[in-house]
Amino acid sequence: MACERSSVKPAFLLLLCFLLGTASAQLSSTFYSTSCPKALSTIKSGVSSAVSKEARMGASLLRLHFHDCFVNGCDASVLLDDTANFTGEKTAGPNSNSLRGFDVIDTIKSQLESACPGVVSCADLVAVAARDSVVALGGPSWTVQLGRRDSTTASLSAANSNIPAPTLSLSGLISAFSKKGFTAKEMVALSGSHTIGQARCTSFRTRLYNENNINATFATSLKVNCPSSGGDSNLSPLDTTSPTSFDNAYFKDLQIQKGLLHSDQQLFNGGSTDAQVNTYSSNSATFMTDFANAMVKMGNLSPLTGSSSQIRKNCREGELSIGMAGLVFNIDICMRV
Ligand code: HEM
Repeated sequence: MACERSSVKPAFLLLLCFLLGTASAQLSSTFYSTSCPKALSTIKSGVSSAVSKEARMGASLLRLHFHDCFVNGCDASVLLDDTANFTGEKTAGPNSNSLRGFDVIDTIKSQLESACPGVVSCADLVAVAARDSVVALGGPSWTVQLGRRDSTTASLSAANSNIPAPTLSLSGLISAFSKKGFTAKEMVALSGSHTIGQARCTSFRTRLYNENNINATFATSLKVNCPSSGGDSNLSPLDTTSPTSFDNAYFKDLQIQKGLLHSDQQLFNGGSTDAQVNTYSSNSATFMTDFANAMVKMGNLSPLTGSSSQIRKNCREGELSIGMAGLVFNIDICMRV
């Protein structure tokens, strides 16, 4: 073994151990150009076909990427199924009975596996699917950096604590995003995602029946489908005017107190982010640019590399053997230092 024969200093091996375990990936937009030239077109057509069957799926795929990235980085941890001896993130409060799109990811992943087995990570697939979803619904495009690897683990507790709740105040929202390195302005831009998709009654009932900063006509119409008790899973659009178009209508809703979630209306409630909402409401192009830039930044949260990660063949299943092999390898080197 090189460790025994060479005269490399223990410090170097310690550094190697550290890098193997924790290094951040250097992402690149051309990562699959030679290893899987059809990767991007395969994902794009898979997303187009899913969104043409059901427009909301575009929103669901965008949210999947957010819930992946905010929990220990964009590493596809959100996709892992629970097993008898493993608890993933799917039963976390923000995800349970709410996150969607897993089947679409599975379908696209199996096409990628046929084209280039074991090459394209689930984390990259989710990142590209989020971008293609936004584009399919009329929003901006951006270049997705690639080369993320998939986790061997997941964290239920981090999913419960890192994904912002709809009950948060403005300062709570600013702080939740600041912990991930985002400014308040970027938080407002990213919240513009709620220009597409739906929320369950249970996510906005408290606001609907208890808050005053909600448009009265809007509230009356929402109550039909979201009674004060029961109907928890009944859906309403997050943007009441154009829920399948990625536009700036969400910010116009906020200006007239038609934010669906408590957290939405917090962005325009006499506080420090009102001015940003006004800007995005009157200038769609500025919103689109800021949103795309913030999505690139979100997609770059803590990408994985090295032996503590993997390229999953089935996005729902971690290949523990690869993780264990990496672990054994790491321990082996570290023991020799
Ligand atoms: C600012 C803090 C945020 C909070 C408190 C929040 C909360 C929520 C909640 C409660 C729902 C409805 C879930 C349900 O009732 O099942 C939802 C839906 C959604 N969220 Fe957020 N969210 C936030 C930020 C984001 C960000 C940053 C993105 C994307 C980058 C995003 C994308 C979406 C989308 C697209 C939907 C609709 C999903 C669908 O129709 O399947 N959200 N969000």
